Amino acid sequence: MRVLVVGAGGREHALCWALARSPLLGKLWCAPGNPGTAEVAENVAIGVLDLYALVQFARANHVDLVVPGGEPPLVAGITDAMEAAGIACCGPSAAAAQLEGSKVFTKEVCEAASIPTAAWERFDDAAAAREFVRRRGAPIVVKADGLAAGKGVVVAATVAEAEDAIRDFMEDGRLGAAGATVVIEECLVGEEVSLFALCDGRHAIVLGAAQDHKRVGDGDTGPNTGGMGAYSPPPCFTPALEHDAMARIVRPALAEMARRGTPFRGILFAGLMLTEDGPKLIEFNVRFGDPECQVLMLRLKSDLLLALQAACDGELGHFDLRWSPEPALGVVMAAQGYPGTPVKHTHINGVAEAGGAGVTIFHAGTEILDGQLVSSGGRVLTVCATGADIAVARDAAYAAIRRIDWPEGFCRRDIGWRAL
Ligand code: AMP
Ligand code: GLY
Repeated sequence: MRVLVVGAGGREHALCWALARSPLLGKLWCAPGNPGTAEVAENVAIGVLDLYALVQFARANHVDLVVPGGEPPLVAGITDAMEAAGIACCGPSAAAAQLEGSKVFTKEVCEAASIPTAAWERFDDAAAAREFVRRRGAPIVVKADGLAAGKGVVVAATVAEAEDAIRDFMEDGRLGAAGATVVIEECLVGEEVSLFALCDGRHAIVLGAAQDHKRVGDGDTGPNTGGMGAYSPPPCFTPALEHDAMARIVRPALAEMARRGTPFRGILFAGLMLTEDGPKLIEFNVRFGDPECQVLMLRLKSDLLLALQAACDGELGHFDLRWSPEPALGVVMAAQGYPGTPVKHTHINGVAEAGGAGVTIFHAGTEILDGQLVSSGGRVLTVCATGADIAVARDAAYAAIRRIDWPEGFCRRDIGWRAL
């Protein structure tokens, strides 16, 4: 098979790395890719939102399967565009990607399918939104309706904070059109888990679960990021909870999407809060998480390409995945300044030497400049390891980080703390 992965992050490097092991693979490309994907695939200089060029490339090169990594091309309709050209694409249509593209849409799906989630209201008017938070009091959660790259959610500890978010999103237009409508919802309490399901429109199978670390600083302090580290499986997420979440959240959502005539195919990422009343949905994403994908790919023993193809063909009804019993843990190395403006083009040495023996290093914001590996983004590497338990995996990952010579980089020192 000839496969095109779309994206340039650590998630896409991990996807390429997993696909490259498939005996079914003939040729692998990554658009636009990074120096890590270049080790296992051929990079193609096309941006993730240049759907026209991606379709042209896929057609000209007889691509059999497209695997989009992130949500921007999915919400923009990459699956519809590829399918119109007769090319299979393992992701939801633009209509089904609204499960990530619009919080109001997701809440309406939850309501229709009786999916447990935080109580909510929709507001298009800032004065009405303010009136609501004053009446309800804090803590309360304010969410921009549209895509905001992780900057559209404020968990407000006080009414004043919630009012600031309403002004920011709805009046100052900090997120553009994405913030014109907001969802204001009840604050849920519990442990957060990310559950991944592979879906073929009618069936869903578990693609593993993980816990992420969203805040930039140790002890979950500082601003939100795309994710600073992850591990899988989360010990708190028992098989009974997983079963419950599939039965009460993932499968009802799938059924509701099919009933609406917009079946969901691809990877459904359910962000869950494990509350006293059981798992509740915080949000859906329509793709793998980054860095969750990296640790899941390290644990996946089955052929990823076969599984993605089965999802495209609607054949997950009798499909099974095999997983390594060993946990995996990944630590993100970011460039100083992240999640604000990161310092760029600083030299990184020792990456190749730090890998091996249970350690796998995925690239994200890196590039080769004059033959030297340099940083080119905020999140730069995900240093991953497997081990007999999470502590062993963690120690191996941090030992590898000590072998990487990059003074302008930093990482959290406490990845895995909840599990340990
Ligand atoms: P994201 O939408 O991925 O930026 O997520 C924002 C984060 O806000 C989530 O990971 C949760 O930690 C938190 N969050 C979102 N909704 C709620 C809620 N209803 N109650 C408590 N925390 C929430
Ligand atoms: N790590 C969280 C995400 O990818 O959305």
